[in-house]
Amino acid sequence: MDKFLKNRGIFDTLSSGHVLELGCGKGADAVDLAGRGFIVDAIDKDPSNISFLESTIREKGIKNIHPVTDLIEDFKPAESKYSLIIANNSLPFISSKEKVVKVITDLSKSLAEGGFLYFTLFGPDDEWSKNADMSFFTQEEGLKLLDGLGLKRYFISTEEGYGKTIKGPIKFWQIHKFLYRK
Ligand SMILES: C[S@@+](CC[C@H](N)C(=O)[O-])C[C@H]1O[C@@H](n2cnc3c(N)ncnc32)[C@H](O)[C@@H]1O
Repeated sequence: MDKFLKNRGIFDTLSSGHVLELGCGKGADAVDLAGRGFIVDAIDKDPSNISFLESTIREKGIKNIHPVTDLIEDFKPAESKYSLIIANNSLPFISSKEKVVKVITDLSKSLAEGGFLYFTLFGPDDEWSKNADMSFFTQEEGLKLLDGLGLKRYFISTEEGYGKTIKGPIKFWQIHKFLYRK
């Protein structure tokens, strides 16, 4: 999430409610959000990430994070539940573009009135774009799929250039960020 949401003023507007984080990794953002008072559903497909988060929750005595091991594309979010939904650098790891479109459509329905949806997609110039297990979208494709979902555009951007991956090596990134509001 870095400082992206903070710098957009999201937390000046929202201070309570349910948050859904898809592809939460080891849970740093979930812990940050729980500390702000949100009730966080944190989803990741990797059981070792969820175990790590569960240990953090135990050690820090956190009550308001619910970690779940699941695939993003299988998780069924309740309608109109979430004040904030975050999928930071996780949707590109779904191999089928159709599934990504379905996930985003379902997420739009699970936003509460006034809620924010933030997700990233990787573009076709990203160095990983030859990877058949991942999906890549132009910014135009992203904007088109958001059309008609009943959300308002709050902020979009594309960042590209060299930077480190979580595992360390440097690669060329092309990341489209989409922040929409119901
Ligand atoms: C690049 S990491 C991003 C982690 C975190 N969101 C962040 O911004 O630091 C991608 C995460 O998404 C998870 N992930 C990838 N594909 C997934 C899927 N189909 N369903 C659930 N989690 C997935 C990975 O296990 C990993 O923790």
